[in-house]
Order: sequence, then C-alpha cells, then structure tokens
Amino acid sequence: MATVIKGGTVITAGDTFAADVLIEGEQIVAVGRGLSAEGVIDATGAYVIPGGIDVHTHLDMPFGGTVSSDDFFTGHQAAAFGGTTMHIDFAIQPKGATLRETLELWHGRAAGKAVIDYGFHVAITDLPDSVLEEMARTVEYGATSMKLFMAYKGALQVDDMTLFRAMQQAAKHRLLIMVHAENGDAIDVLVREAIEAGNLAPKYHALTRPPELEAEATARAVRLAEVAGAPLYVVHLTNAGALEAIRLARARGLSGQIFAETCTQYFFFTRDDLDREGFEGAKWVCSPPFRELSDQAALWQGVADNSLQVVSTDHCPFWFEGGKDGRPGGKELGRESFAKIPNGCPGIEERMMLLYTHGVRAGRISLNRWVELTSTNPARLFGCYPRKGAVAPGADADLVVWDPALRRTISAATQHQRTDYTLYEGWEVVGAPRTVLSRGRVLVDEGAWKGEAGSGQFIHRRPFGL
Ligand code: URP
Ligand code: ZN
Ligand code: ZN
Repeated sequence: MATVIKGGTVITAGDTFAADVLIEGEQIVAVGRGLSAEGVIDATGAYVIPGGIDVHTHLDMPFGGTVSSDDFFTGHQAAAFGGTTMHIDFAIQPKGATLRETLELWHGRAAGKAVIDYGFHVAITDLPDSVLEEMARTVEYGATSMKLFMAYKGALQVDDMTLFRAMQQAAKHRLLIMVHAENGDAIDVLVREAIEAGNLAPKYHALTRPPELEAEATARAVRLAEVAGAPLYVVHLTNAGALEAIRLARARGLSGQIFAETCTQYFFFTRDDLDREGFEGAKWVCSPPFRELSDQAALWQGVADNSLQVVSTDHCPFWFEGGKDGRPGGKELGRESFAKIPNGCPGIEERMMLLYTHGVRAGRISLNRWVELTSTNPARLFGCYPRKGAVAPGADADLVVWDPALRRTISAATQHQRTDYTLYEGWEVVGAPRTVLSRGRVLVDEGAWKGEAGSGQFIHRRPFGL
C-alpha cells in the first residue's frame, strides 16, 4: 500500500519547502505538491525530515568490567522515540580475533532484535599483519570505517605505530579512520598519582584527563593522517584546544580529509557535574570528560561554522544502581575509586530534541544545519548517502514528522533507554517527533510504539568518498 505524508514542510540539509512525500514499499517515490495515496499521514504544521543517524553508539558492549545496558532492541526503541532511524555501532575486536569474527559477534547481538537500520565500525585493538591485510576486506563486509583508541591504556589503546600503519592501509582502500583522541600514557600516569594520593571521588576522572591531553592527541592524529594520506574522523571532541587542531588542518586545505564530531552532552555539562553531591557525579563519568563553559561555546561555534560536521551521542549507557535485579554492574562499580566507574552516558533518545531546542530554537543553528549535522553529513561521511539522510525519490523512507510545538519533559521515569537515570532529568524540550518511519514502516506514532523486533537491517556502507 502506498502512503503519503501530507501537508508538511520538508527540511533537508539544503532546502526548506512545502511538499507531500509519497512512499511505496520501503522507499520514497515522489516529493511534491498534491500527491495522494491510500494511506495518509498528516503532517500539517509539522516538518518532514530525514530520520536521524547516530554514528557513535555502544549497544550491548562489554566494557569497564560490565556491559552497556541497552541492547539492540531497547536501544533501537529509544532511538526511534527520539527521531533516530539509523545508527552505527562499534564492533570491538577481541584480542586475537579477525575483523570478520569481530563483525560476526556484533551481527549476532543485533539479530532478531534490531528495529531501526544499523551499521558497524570495527574498533581495532590488535593489528598483526594478517589483520592489517584484512582491513582491505572491510569493503566487502560493508563496514568501511574503523576506530582506534589512543587512550584506555592496558585495554583498548593502540600505539602510534599501530595507528599509523592502519592509516596507511586505510589510505590505500578508502577507509575512514576514527580516533578516540586522548593521550592514554599521560592519563595513566595522572590516574596512578591520583589513586596514590587517595583522590578517588568521581571528579578526579575529569581532573586526570585534562583537555590539553585531548588537544595533543587530536593534533598528533591529524598529522599522522596527513602523512599517511588517510581520511580521519575524530570522535567525541570536547574542547576548544582539540577543535583548534581540526580547524587549522581544515584551513590548510584538508577539509576533504579531516573531520570531527562532538556529542550532544558536551554542549550542556561541565567538569563541575562530576563533583555533584555524594556519588551522583558518577552519572557524568565518560571519556573524554566534560570540560568548561568556554568549551561549550567553542563547540556551538564549531557546529555553526562547519569546523565540526556531525553531532552524535556516544550512547554508552550503564545503570547507576546495577548489579542487582538481573542488571549487569553499573556506575556503583566505582564507589571506591573513580578509575573503576564504567565510562559512558546514555543519550541516543534525546539528541534530536535537545539540538532542536537548544540549537535551532535558540538561534544557534538553522533548521537545515540541524538536519545536516544529525542525518545528512553522517550519511555522506559514512558511505550511505543518498539512500539515507535524504528526502528524495529513491531514498529509503526513513522519515520523521517533527512537531515543532510538541513539549516533552525528559525523565528517567518515561524514557525508553534502559537505564535508571538521564543526564537531563526534568529538562523541558520543545519540538519532538510525532511520527517516525523506518523504510516505510511506522515505528512510533503519537507517542505509541508500533515497531517489531527483527525488522531493522544491516546497512552495507560504501568506502569513504565513493
Ligand atoms: O566514556 C565513553 N565514551 N565510553 C564509550 C567508549 C568510548 O570511548 O567511546
Ligand atoms: Zn572513545
Ligand atoms: Zn564511544
């Protein structure tokens, strides 16, 4: 049955225009005025946007001595309620595993649960020659981007030789290298010193990971990528110093090679949040940590002037009170020491609403830029545009009817993310999804869940720039 989304204003990265959107099966077949079909979705007074794409998530991920609390069903449900219809998750290579084996593990996690479409980046933790060669085959696997960690010493961190060799291989095969840019060696020294001095409260997480060590690693990764000739995407950038390294690289002619994202939460919190009463600050423990108000201003400037091209979430939820009632361990694992608090925060559900409220409504970014940062640029950079990230004939009907007047109060009691807290408890947002479609199927309508586990598909992505 064909369906028409009628009477809305279509917002794309480049245009704003009144139009109906005609859907047949899984795809958009026409965008124009006066379209009709048997099924009608009313978009009067609303925007019609391409579904959000979150390129940085960690669902069902073993990490920090536990596992992230959302799986591929609960995480997808939360994403859909917030207007996100695709995400790219990190498949973390167990030491000794091939990239194929790593991806198989993550395909298994998604099987039968997925509701929205998804892709995988491989997080490389171990790069013998055989895996270096196998990197070329990620094109065949449809997972053409890979993250390397410059931090988390003794766990996920790789050295510069490994990073550089991966970059050289990426340059040959048009793969996008992503880096977690913090100087893990220096952080390790600071963490040991803090522990020896008995400084164990959550706030020391931020104090032992200063912004200079992110700026240094960002600049180093940029220079290594420049020499290797590899495309580079710096994930979860948090501060003015790191942003400066990206801005300088792009200004010296590398705007087609060097990219960076920030994540929603870095616009809103500072390191003082880790110093909240009692153990409450553990909720705000993530890496890189929250910074200063001046860094928030720099990030807003960065998304407005295109020094930053994407806003993702780094959704990596843990329970605050885990380890009981069948829950895996959560933030309580670090009650004795900040160094044992699982790193990560929930946020896949709130991204589009917070950026709309505090970005678009507050006049910091335009409607089109909002769509570009949250959907179109992610699709372009990660090899799935214009199938995703577009409102145009031939694109997948991943669409959100966005009601700019809808008010919501964010709360752990009503969220769909599987955690017992949200960083934004009690915050009011204005503007939220009315109807959410993934490949033509309605997932959410007027706040009601219509989706079905297992209906989400793996998206086979093209190499960088193709
Ligand atoms: O604290 C974070 N960001 N946890 C997830 C892992 C990562 O570094 O992205
Ligand atoms: Zn990271
Ligand atoms: Zn992450």
